[in-house]
Amino acid sequence: MAVASAPGKLILFGEHFVVYGLPALATAIEARTVAEVQRADKYSLIDNRPETVGYKKEKYSQQVDSIQRIFKAIELKGDDVKIVLRGDLVATSGVGASGASCSAIVAALSDEFELGLSKEEINNIAYEGEKGYHGTPSGIDNTCSTFGGFILYRKDITSGGSNMKHLDLSTSFSVIMGNTGITSNTTEVVKDVESQKEREPDRFSRLFKEYQKIIDEAIVSLQKEDLENIGRLMNKNHSLLREINVSSTELERLVELALKNGAMGAKLTGTGRGGLMIALVDDDNKKDVADAIKNAGFKAEITRIGAEGVRLGR
Ligand code: MEV
Repeated sequence: MAVASAPGKLILFGEHFVVYGLPALATAIEARTVAEVQRADKYSLIDNRPETVGYKKEKYSQQVDSIQRIFKAIELKGDDVKIVLRGDLVATSGVGASGASCSAIVAALSDEFELGLSKEEINNIAYEGEKGYHGTPSGIDNTCSTFGGFILYRKDITSGGSNMKHLDLSTSFSVIMGNTGITSNTTEVVKDVESQKEREPDRFSRLFKEYQKIIDEAIVSLQKEDLENIGRLMNKNHSLLREINVSSTELERLVELALKNGAMGAKLTGTGRGGLMIALVDDDNKKDVADAIKNAGFKAEITRIGAEGVRLGR
């Protein structure tokens, strides 16, 4: 039997904009998905990951498609493999649950079948798996789960390739994840943004310019460990996401609760229209922010960011 694990991710800046070739910044979190792979008489999948109610059922057919794509890309029949998924990463929208499971499954298959895949190869095959979940993924989620740390990611929309740069940051800070409890459909939301862009190209080119300024400044602020400014830029990024219609009443409520209770910045993360809100906090106010979110009836979790990528074992 082989065991591998990969972390969830949070997008700090640039979800949706990354689909159009703009750079985005993502980071790996502490919680991980663990994949166990063993040989068996027939194929089976047991999914014991904790979840936001309804998530696994809603994503089940996409998960089947994803695993088939992984087998195809890795050139295995897969009819003699038992896969068990577990770990402390809650399967929910916004946290890169699909990217983490793809990356962990590929690494475990590589170990069990002695394929000796490099991290780059694991990442490329995990990307094929991600296509089962969201059609035309930018690749940021699987890349972050595979390599870990802080990743500045850019998709080359003409060649279909991508550029990835590890940011070597000494900063390690906490964020609060507030969960709307709503599972979002990435394929649908990405398509909707695309049709808005087709209808209103001028508005989108203005938004893209505004976003580019935010990410440029965010990289400098991260390197200077200027958390106040990073928070301010997260708020600005959230406003742009609101303008492209990917926020929701619940996400707005979570952002408001976080800012009112002392967070330095807050924004939706990932697909939006559900999923997660992240808030940048310091040690003095993290409990107040988390409590306010919980008292309003949402789930809240504190995580440190910049965690390790895919690895063998837990
Ligand atoms: C999903 O985690 C992030 C999106 O930008 C889609 C993608 O990058 O593939 C919404």
